[in-house]
Amino acid sequence: MAVRSVLRMGDPQLLERSRAVERFATPELDALIRDMRDTMAALNGAGLAAPQLGVLKRIVIFGVGRNPRYPDAEEVPETVLINPELEPLDAGDVAEDWEGCLSVPGMRGLVPRYRHLRYRGFDERGRPIDRTVSDFHARVVQHEVDHLDGVLYPTRIRDLRNFGFTAELFPDANIAED
Ligand code: NI
Repeated sequence: MAVRSVLRMGDPQLLERSRAVERFATPELDALIRDMRDTMAALNGAGLAAPQLGVLKRIVIFGVGRNPRYPDAEEVPETVLINPELEPLDAGDVAEDWEGCLSVPGMRGLVPRYRHLRYRGFDERGRPIDRTVSDFHARVVQHEVDHLDGVLYPTRIRDLRNFGFTAELFPDANIAED
């Protein structure tokens, strides 16, 4: 188990474009993904991108299990997604919702995202992934893949009045970071 520290907004590495993974099923890749999983779990995240650990490779992980406190929250399968390609299925269908990020701890912002998305890529063994998803699942993928292009969610907020500290925005909630 290796929980690594997560880079925070302001670190210039978070603004870099990450490079494609060329070799799958290597011990190095497996070790990195293990660290990413351990770190995400320890911080209660919904997703994590390799550049958040200072590794500029096109690797993201995400997953949200059922939580009895939030019976309406959609489940997102535990996924390792490498070299992802995103294809919005209806570029006119955009919705805003609240996001957080382990690199912007303690804050939330209202972010527009495509509601319907096809995404493709590979898992850690190089097996192809091809999914068509909507809403929360689509939002999580867009957020994580943004990290691979050096984009943090605050830069997508349309109106910065909709950006603030989680404890002030949602004083009654107990919200996990992502
Ligand atoms: Ni993030």
